[in-house]
Amino acid sequence: MDSRPIGVFDSGVGGLTVLKRLIQVLPEEDYIYFGDTKRVPYGDRSKEEIELFAGQIINFMKEKNVKAVVIACNTTCATIDKGKYDIELFDVLKAGAESGVYCTKNKKVGVIATKRTVESRSYEINIKSINPQIEVYQKACPEFVPLIEKGLYNSPLAYKAAKDCLEEFKGKEIDTLILGCTHYPLMEPIIKAIMGDGVKVVDPAVRLSHEVKEYLERSRILNFGKKGKIEFFVSGDAENFKKTAEMVLGKKIDEVFIVDIERY
Ligand code: DGL
Repeated sequence: MDSRPIGVFDSGVGGLTVLKRLIQVLPEEDYIYFGDTKRVPYGDRSKEEIELFAGQIINFMKEKNVKAVVIACNTTCATIDKGKYDIELFDVLKAGAESGVYCTKNKKVGVIATKRTVESRSYEINIKSINPQIEVYQKACPEFVPLIEKGLYNSPLAYKAAKDCLEEFKGKEIDTLILGCTHYPLMEPIIKAIMGDGVKVVDPAVRLSHEVKEYLERSRILNFGKKGKIEFFVSGDAENFKKTAEMVLGKKIDEVFIVDIERY
């Protein structure tokens, strides 16, 4: 038993889709969520910037005395050297790549992600390291994150952006599409409608949440015996964040704290 919280972070609201899965699998844990709403989107930022931001956020998480950190941001996973940090880190990108490998039957996998994640080829590298025969088709969808941060994930604009982006996969015969950015599950109904029944849409957080559970069990640091609580922190806009968080998690949130993350 270990009552310390689990840290979860993202550039903004995207990581809430991961938090939701974690709560389903580990409802008795406490969580600290950080969304970098002042510096979102991360997708077009440099390696140096992402490394700096991740370092600051992990320092903040350490100050909050977390027992593990879930990097609920593919762009960060694709960029930082995780070996540099002396804390248990969970990687949504790796879980996503593994999910894609185990899901595909015809060995043709599509990935949609941010520009930085696509350019890093991290999905392709991780997938091929497990099964080199799998063909990986990637597409950056830079319009999605700004729309989702504004709460427009279910709008005609989002539909149009998804239609344009997913055009890339026409004729490729993929049977699996990985949502390689944690914001994208918010557009999952639109993405599924466009891709049709022949394509399985994979949310990496499903596998990731079970990985976290296995780790906590193995290390005997589960928290149990009470309903877990969540504390929310952002670096900038808290209003839109609160609205989206209430929608994603399906419950009222009392307070979202603003933190000066550059201080860490
Ligand atoms: N949600 C993040 C990801 O999984 C970052 C999106 C962004 O800020 O561009 O990649």
